[in-house]
Amino acid sequence: MATIESILRENRVFPPAGEFVRHANIAGIKTYKELCQEAEHDYTGFWAKLAKQYITWHKPFTRILDDTNPPFYKWFDDGELNISWNCLDRHLATQADKTAIIFESDEGKVNHCSYRELHRQVCRFANGLKSLGIRQGDRVVIYMPMRIEAVVAMQACARIGAIHSVVFGGFSAKSVYERIIDAEASAVITADEQTRGGKCHALKATVDKALAMSDTTSVHSVVVFQHTGTDIAWQPERDHWWHDLTARQSDECEPTWINAEHPLFTLYTSGSTGKPKGVQHSSAGYLLGTITSMQWVFDYHADDVFWCTADVGWVTGHSYVTYGPLAIGATQVIFEGIPTYPDAGRFWKIIQKHKVTIFYTAPTAIRSLIKLGPDLPEKYDLSSLRLLGSVGEPINPEAWMWYFTVVGQSRCPVVDTWWQTETGSHIIAPVPGAISTKPGSCTLPLPGIDAAAIDETGQPVKEGKGGFLVIKRPFPSMLRTLWNDPARFKQTYFPADIAGGRYYVAGDSAHRDRDGYFWIMGRIDDVLNVSGHRLGTMEIESALVAHPLVAEAAVVGKPHEIKGEAVVAFVTLREKSPDDQRAAEIAATLREWVAGEIGAIARPEEIRFGENLPKTRSGKIMRRLLRALARGETITQDVSTLENPIILEQLSQTV
Ligand code: WT7
Repeated sequence: MATIESILRENRVFPPAGEFVRHANIAGIKTYKELCQEAEHDYTGFWAKLAKQYITWHKPFTRILDDTNPPFYKWFDDGELNISWNCLDRHLATQADKTAIIFESDEGKVNHCSYRELHRQVCRFANGLKSLGIRQGDRVVIYMPMRIEAVVAMQACARIGAIHSVVFGGFSAKSVYERIIDAEASAVITADEQTRGGKCHALKATVDKALAMSDTTSVHSVVVFQHTGTDIAWQPERDHWWHDLTARQSDECEPTWINAEHPLFTLYTSGSTGKPKGVQHSSAGYLLGTITSMQWVFDYHADDVFWCTADVGWVTGHSYVTYGPLAIGATQVIFEGIPTYPDAGRFWKIIQKHKVTIFYTAPTAIRSLIKLGPDLPEKYDLSSLRLLGSVGEPINPEAWMWYFTVVGQSRCPVVDTWWQTETGSHIIAPVPGAISTKPGSCTLPLPGIDAAAIDETGQPVKEGKGGFLVIKRPFPSMLRTLWNDPARFKQTYFPADIAGGRYYVAGDSAHRDRDGYFWIMGRIDDVLNVSGHRLGTMEIESALVAHPLVAEAAVVGKPHEIKGEAVVAFVTLREKSPDDQRAAEIAATLREWVAGEIGAIARPEEIRFGENLPKTRSGKIMRRLLRALARGETITQDVSTLENPIILEQLSQTV
């Protein structure tokens, strides 16, 4: 196999500050290495010890890993527990009055919810679900605004052993419909409307539309949280108000004790191609991954105020809003709105107001905030911050540096966390009190994670060459299967043509530097082949964004007679709509800039400008769509979820 060439060089290194190390959960590289060695020496013993330490079991497990039927692994599979009990009840004896959630609504209203109160709400709602006949193993679709009630709905499902499937509130009726059908869901939990950025969006009406898409349905109940109070259609035999359902319920709800391997949830991930995959997670193994990463990567301390900006519609919102922070008894911020409303200072204002100490967001948000106000963070008091995190895509070194110096005032380590819906929790990420960071690298695997960059035969690729990012041993928080589709699970994640199907194949390409650090180069499907050199998209995009004129960039390949493929770059500028002549000048400048930064091989053949880039609702660039544009093909895919469809027209024009 032709490995992928790595052409980007980044030499800045930031060792952890002494003060940070002194208080860190994993203090110093030696401690980190000892943990890694412990895992290497006794892999299952390592995980078993953590599972006993961090999870409260109803019935302790005696078996650790069952690997008799790969790749269908089981962890702790004769143990019993309840996830909601671990997230709520076990804190009641010691910290019932601690704030679990600081909720800030779109319009800025704030509400503090203690562990006691959250427990009460979850119990009442869980009893309500039971009264509707929902039982262990039933599937429940959740289509909610980003509010405390979304967490309550998920936790209540977990409490009674129902399997939730959260659908992001921005998705269409068709997506809701498809997920209901695939899961054969018994119930849907929703709200009348959601409010984001000062606007209301229908939720219940969308659910009605989804349920009308087929004559027969498995859904017998729809529970509706009244948020805005708008008029909605009502089917009395099917629809129930949240407030009516919970009104006469008890404040206590005996948890349903479930097996460690009982599915906690499914979550659909589109990947870059084909029908969405219903990623199915376990209970205990998943929970353990969220807890260890809260401890190791977020370096959680009892007085932290944690804020992960992700919506519960994504796995980040599952692991680092609904489960991880509650399982360790943290105080966290939940924010209903968007970063740019009422202005681009909203995130900074929230950090200032609630004295957030750990802040976790996505590179796409960081880049858009740089574009809208690079100096804005300086207007706020961000001195409470002590740790910054990034997730969802590769963060290019320039955005990383801005995050580090402007937001974190060069005081807060930046943890660039690589993981996936499928891995459930962080996999490769700096342990901030131990690992020196390098802008653009997710650094080293967490203790107990055996990650590598390999070629098809399973050999590690040479330093500076990219290969398939794989995880060689099963780990507790990994997905168990794809809902109803074990064959696709095996084919997708353990493909026979890569190292004989022995390893979990993430679908990303990565290379390692001389310190063993991982650098993610993009999705394998996105690799370009220019004159026989295989190039990842990430590095060229990074070079473009490093130019002061550029806010965002996406790179794809298009067929080229001589080179095989040529680089086409789609660029969003910091300045507004340059005229044709200026655009042509900038394009020429950028082509030379890329050639200078990383070499002539990567020089874009073509550069196109647009006001923004087409993205999925989770903020990932839709490169497939850009590839079609670059090739001048007509767009056949669904573009209804695009924020701004006009840009497709802009981007189809060559300068
Ligand atoms: C894909 C997974 C991770 C939870 C949210 C997204 C990309 C994610 C990073 C990172 C480089 C990253 C990868 C991965 N990705 N984090 N820190 N550096 N790439 O979950 O939607 O399942 O996406 O996102 O390509 O495979 P997801």
